[in-house]
Amino acid sequence: MIYADYNGSAPICEDVKEYFIKRLQDGPFANPNSIHRLGTKVLTAMENSRAICAKTLGAKYTQVIFNSGATEGITQVFHSVLDSAKDDGQNIVITSGIEHSAVINCAKFYVNKGYTHKIVPTLSNGVIDFDQLKEWLKEFKGRIALVAIMAANNETGVIQPFEEIASICTKNEVPFLCDTTQFIGKCHFDFQKTNIDYAVTSGHKFGALTGTGILLAKHPGKLHPLVIGGGQEKGIRGGTQNYLGYETLAVALDSFTKNAGKYEDLKVKRLEFEKEIKKRFPQVVILGEDAPRVCSTTYISYPGVHGQAVQIELESSDIFVTTSSACSDNEPVTSKVLKAMGVSDEVGRGVVRISLGHCSPLESYDKILEALTNAYEKLGKIKSY
Ligand SMILES: Cc1ncc(COP(=O)(O)O)c(C=O)c1O
Repeated sequence: MIYADYNGSAPICEDVKEYFIKRLQDGPFANPNSIHRLGTKVLTAMENSRAICAKTLGAKYTQVIFNSGATEGITQVFHSVLDSAKDDGQNIVITSGIEHSAVINCAKFYVNKGYTHKIVPTLSNGVIDFDQLKEWLKEFKGRIALVAIMAANNETGVIQPFEEIASICTKNEVPFLCDTTQFIGKCHFDFQKTNIDYAVTSGHKFGALTGTGILLAKHPGKLHPLVIGGGQEKGIRGGTQNYLGYETLAVALDSFTKNAGKYEDLKVKRLEFEKEIKKRFPQVVILGEDAPRVCSTTYISYPGVHGQAVQIELESSDIFVTTSSACSDNEPVTSKVLKAMGVSDEVGRGVVRISLGHCSPLESYDKILEALTNAYEKLGKIKSY
């Protein structure tokens, strides 16, 4: 079996599995807020995990807020920043058109509350139009409440100029939320160096337990709790902490740091794979190919062959990829990310996303190459649209 949907959710990584099994056997289990000895032990383990996460992500210990994942972090930042910004004359929210729906739907929520949502265009290579963003920051000076742009796209893997965005937002005193969900655990990330105001991620994208995540905040005191509760996470996120889950965040991030070199090997192997599949099928298109991409994602299309059909073919060889196209009436449609890049339906309906991680054996690409070749040879003869 080859699991090639890491961008959807990564399997629990080996280091985490080993740690967690032992942790479940050994305990202790207690409420980290209890003052007895077991509670204190649990609290210490959780706070050690916070320190490891902070160190790995280049953040201060106090800037790490544990939560359930990126969706929660994004929602909390939107609510914290936008609940009052309009009263100060800042009524514009800027996002790109390739953001995850967790961001887009928050922006839409605030449009209903009187905000204007401006969408930065995306260039055909999958990178946002930074010049347009710069112009808007000038044109709407003093009126922008929040800029929310991702670090790496979940479909294409294309890396956005988030460090430049952070620096220009800082210069213009505009809060910048960077969705780092697809970047953390694949690339080295340094929160303080980048000068981002808020960054979010989900543990299940990099081998920790599902339902865990991190919100990094330059100034945590500016955040309002979404869940009020009893003052946990310094009053920023109420409710008894998922301490076992948070411990896995630290183990997974530590495992990523130790295995960072594997990503370099993966990158070389992926490029070989892409080169070879293009040689065999010159009509295939690799989306975002010319832009900087995370090293483990290939978003590939054989125009005229449904991505879903390719996915099913690969699944019959026990290879799990995804198409990411939304479906209406069983008709795959071009995703909003590809539409934002100006990709035609001919290409857009044919995509599959192959995404691996540092735990994937390098030979996975050899097996995927052969299975994809078989699928394209078979399905290419009976073009489906
Ligand atoms: C870029 C990006 N942002 C946010 C999310 C939301 O993550 P979660 O569903 O874990 O909260 C995802 C998940 O696919 C994602 O890829």
